[in-house]
Amino acid sequence: MSEEQQFYVPPGGPPRVNAPSPEIYAVMGEKNIFAMLADFYAQLETSSIRGMFPRDMLRASRKSAAFFVGLLGGPPLYHQKYGSPMMRARHMPFPIDEVARQVWLDCFEAVLADAPEKYSFPPEHLPQFRQFLVAFSGWMVNKA
Ligand code: HEM
Repeated sequence: MSEEQQFYVPPGGPPRVNAPSPEIYAVMGEKNIFAMLADFYAQLETSSIRGMFPRDMLRASRKSAAFFVGLLGGPPLYHQKYGSPMMRARHMPFPIDEVARQVWLDCFEAVLADAPEKYSFPPEHLPQFRQFLVAFSGWMVNKA
């Protein structure tokens, strides 16, 4: 295998973390989740990893939001539109190292800080959702 084809594999393997509570979708609904992801992508737009993302960030945010609707307990919009998520595989074209992961998490954190007020995110589920993002983002890292 040539150098370029060797991907870093996080030593812990796939994340062992509970899926976020389906109550999150039950409380927020689809509109709030799409709004939260639009604001998250607006954060990414001004971040140091902006270059990895497509020009149209609102459009990109909608694709991600479809995934988060299902993840948070709603209908499987992403699966229906785009098929199996295979998230680690879909992130392979982008060089994601620990620095990029931290920037990504910081952008999400900026949005979560006032998510209960802005998007009706149920605050009791925030700690577990943060844990999920920390664990799952580790599995997207493909570059040492
Ligand atoms: C570790 C830091 C991460 C970075 C730097 C990152 C970066 C990216 C990039 C560059 C794209 C492609 C955007 C596009 O072409 O539209 C993408 C797509 C996506 N990401 Fe991430 N990502 C990270 C973690 C995550 C995590 C933890 C999740 C889910 C919990 C996630 C969910 C998604 C989804 C649903 C898409 C859309 C996939 C598709 O194009 O079909 N990402 N991400």
